[in-house]
Amino acid sequence: MSDMQNIQWFPGHMTKTKRQIQANLKLVDAVAELIDARIPVSSRNPDLNGIIQSKPRVILLNKCDMANQTATKMWIDYFAKQNITAIAVDCKSGRGLNKFPQAVNKVLAEKINRLKSKGMKNPMMRIMIVGIPNVGKSSFINRISRQNRAKVEDRPGVTRGNQWFTISNNLEMLDTPGVLWPKFDDKIVGEHLAFTGAVKDQVIDTELLAVRLLDFLKRLKPAEFIERFKLEDMDFENTDSYELLRYIGKKRGMLVSGGEIDTERASIMLLDEFRAAKLGRITVEMPGRPLTEN
Ligand code: G4P
Repeated sequence: MSDMQNIQWFPGHMTKTKRQIQANLKLVDAVAELIDARIPVSSRNPDLNGIIQSKPRVILLNKCDMANQTATKMWIDYFAKQNITAIAVDCKSGRGLNKFPQAVNKVLAEKINRLKSKGMKNPMMRIMIVGIPNVGKSSFINRISRQNRAKVEDRPGVTRGNQWFTISNNLEMLDTPGVLWPKFDDKIVGEHLAFTGAVKDQVIDTELLAVRLLDFLKRLKPAEFIERFKLEDMDFENTDSYELLRYIGKKRGMLVSGGEIDTERASIMLLDEFRAAKLGRITVEMPGRPLTEN
């Protein structure tokens, strides 16, 4: 797994990114942390806490259209118990984004009230978005800026070079996201990121990844997966995952010359279908459960 990390993020790159985020943090009142609702542990970068420190934050559980709805609710409760406001969003369709201004105002209530008590009528609050690659940062910015067209005019005293847009009557958003590096020191974290396509396929053996995904699906037994590959009549739970991959490949007619099963093609198909939520709306990581048990 350390190879994957080296390919995408080398230490110099991380230091530069961290500095950029720290510089932008000085300009904002709160941070919106975008994570993947299917893998809320692995898609978070634990270093972020140290970077943003006490800055108020809202967590956006993105891609909730592909996650299990009950699991997403459980995650929102889990974060609430830690005093963190989290909302479920789908930045592809825009679903859930209407709750965003309210959530930000909630985490900034103390500051807003303090400024109001000092005589400010409608204090303007600023936000930035952070998240690992592919989590949906551009989709979020596109969506939320499309819904709220007005770009903020340059004002004296405001650093040039940063673009802001209005998202409600008291909120402005920086249009440059903070890109966090995915952190996969842990093998399982790396696998979960790869399941969802958050890290590139070329850096992990596709067949091995498909086998690991099947290990997980065998335990979870999602109905769509069973139905899609017609597994009803077989003892798939007790079938070796590589054998199961061959079975699935055969069912789909994925053969190479000589009649052998093309397990490479079957692996790509399985991963593609999982990533497109065709095997069900599946949450890989559940709150309060060690990753190894997911
Ligand atoms: P990034 O800026 O953080 O790197 O992520 P980006 O917005 O580029 O999103 C990465 C991929 O995730 C895109 O798909 C995007 O459409 C998809 N995506 C973002 N948010 C959601 C969501 O809430 N639900 C779903 N289902 N997908 C989401 P892509 O395949 O790279 O491009 P495309 O299919 O949009 O063309």
